[in-house]
Amino acid sequence: MSTQLDGWQRSHNLNELTDKHDGNKVTLMGWVQSRRDHGNLIFIDLRDRYGITQVVLDPAHTAGVLEVGEKIRNEYVLAVQGVVRKRPEGMINSKVTTGAIEVIADVAKLLNSSEPLPFQIQDSTDASETIRLKYRYLDLRRNTLKNNMLTRIHFVREMRRALEDENFLDIETPMLYKSTPEGAREFLVPSRVHAGKFYALPQSPQLFKQVLMISGFDRYYQVVKCFRDEDLRADRQPEFSQIDLEMSFVDRDQIMGTMERVIGRAWEKVTGAPVPMPLPRMGYDQAMEEYGNDKPDTRFDLKISNLSEIVATSEFKVFANALSTGGIVNALCVQGHSEKLTRKELDELTEVARHHGAGGLAWAKIKEGKGVESWQSPVAKFLTPEVIEAITAKVGAKIGDTILFGAGDYRSTKAALSAVRLELGKRLQLFNPKQFNFLWVVDFPSFERDHESNRLIACHHPFTSPRDEDMHLLETAAEKVKAKAYDLVLNGNEVAGGSIRIHSQELQSRIFKLLGLSQEEAQSKFGFLLDALKFGAPPHGGMAFGLDRLVMILTGSDSIRDVIAFPKTNKATDLMTEAPSEVGPNELRNLHIRVQKLTLE
Ligand code: AMO
Ligand code: AMP
Repeated sequence: MSTQLDGWQRSHNLNELTDKHDGNKVTLMGWVQSRRDHGNLIFIDLRDRYGITQVVLDPAHTAGVLEVGEKIRNEYVLAVQGVVRKRPEGMINSKVTTGAIEVIADVAKLLNSSEPLPFQIQDSTDASETIRLKYRYLDLRRNTLKNNMLTRIHFVREMRRALEDENFLDIETPMLYKSTPEGAREFLVPSRVHAGKFYALPQSPQLFKQVLMISGFDRYYQVVKCFRDEDLRADRQPEFSQIDLEMSFVDRDQIMGTMERVIGRAWEKVTGAPVPMPLPRMGYDQAMEEYGNDKPDTRFDLKISNLSEIVATSEFKVFANALSTGGIVNALCVQGHSEKLTRKELDELTEVARHHGAGGLAWAKIKEGKGVESWQSPVAKFLTPEVIEAITAKVGAKIGDTILFGAGDYRSTKAALSAVRLELGKRLQLFNPKQFNFLWVVDFPSFERDHESNRLIACHHPFTSPRDEDMHLLETAAEKVKAKAYDLVLNGNEVAGGSIRIHSQELQSRIFKLLGLSQEEAQSKFGFLLDALKFGAPPHGGMAFGLDRLVMILTGSDSIRDVIAFPKTNKATDLMTEAPSEVGPNELRNLHIRVQKLTLE
């Protein structure tokens, strides 16, 4: 029997046939989802991208058809010519669009067979991710992943439409770029033609899009791959996609307004629900103070309180040590849920805090009683009645509430309480997982000090403009300077970031100097930008959406690997193609490279 198409053409996709097609002659092709052998009859669920249609192999209808049917196994590729027939009452399957009909095969032919599967093609699977990534083509046949891909495609299409309607131009920028560290480590590509020289893969098209503004293109966008050799996590890949854009002659609010229209429109098209506009905004300082990080999950309220002043004179060594070394004492007050916050649960939360650098997580449960008596807490004995009352009042604790304390340096205390807050959110189900809370975080600091090298580094990137009112602080108090930068946060994830750029060559040079770049270094790394800025650069700014993260949230996935067709593992490997791989001596010689394995410290 032929395994070729022999001129057969599909007449319908496998989601299309209904009782309206009763009696029609059709040609269908797809994969065998399942085969049910009733001895004298074989039922096959045939699947394609669109859906599933039931095919019946009935020897009473066509002699010899069972011979093919008996060979068929799951995931064989089958072509069928036959007649659509209404299913008898009681056999109708209302779960699939084609559930009212079946197709009686006149001819069935196998276009291909399949080896036994490493895992079944079902919506949910307990196959390990390692196996799923190795057989990614099979994993992508599962509805879950297929639907994630379809949502991604839909979202990108709607974003493109929205951007095109706002006059943005889709312009490609190079992948073979120059090494210009922007923050993360880069991937390098050795040049064959220029011995000893390297291209770098772009961390983002940042400087090209700025140059495009200088060229006058006014509004640019691109759905683009970016490459960063970072430590990987569930929301990070070494290559990921941005919806990247840039605009000229606009200020921060105009960019944010345009972005709200674009994302709002696309989000509504994909989810069916409008996004309330304008999106709320929060200053970076408030985000850090109340939520302990710069991407607050505002789906639940639980905020951090600052107790440093109240406990300033306390002799409790945990608090006193923190404050005497310039640190802070903060607390979370969990309303209710007291019965769920058992000793075991509190110990686990303490581990979460420790994991994020805290020394511990003191706690107090509020019971009936007055003042000190109302506190059930291992640390109550170290605190005076006045302090206990002041803390209770400050965090607004009532009977049945639990206070969790963090004390230590600013960074780790905020990080720990922020992690504990998120953990509580999950454990106590403090939010609706189907809700989408967008939030702008604005007024980021321009610079922070790298603790190891003690050098200033740009918080966003070195092309971000400081706020006009802070310019005078650049050389004297750089860490106080705020940037014209903004992030878009969705349910506690940073899903986009952008800024107004520096469009003056003098200011850009001044910032490079502040960041410790000598004039020669600035010229060799960013000479093209400094030159371009001299030739009539318009005021400009922009932003980039993290496409994978947005689709991860849109589809309710736990990892961005589930919304990327061919993702890499946490160790940056591709288990299907087995990249990265070694290359032969000839290839290396062509690239003027010899590999010598060094032991890195
Ligand atoms: P930024 O570095 O903030 O800005 O990146 C923009 C968005 O990209 C997403 N993202 C990532 N997603 C997956 N894996 C990664 N490794 C990863 N890194 C970043 C995040 C982030 O918000 N050129 C600037 C944008 C601009 O200023 O216009 C930039 O790249 O969702
Ligand atoms: P210790 O005397 O070290 O056992 O600490 C007493 C209580 O304070 C314990 O409940 C600890 O978990 C808690 N604790 C210790 N260090 C910290 C810290 N840095 N922040 C908050 N609580 C802490």
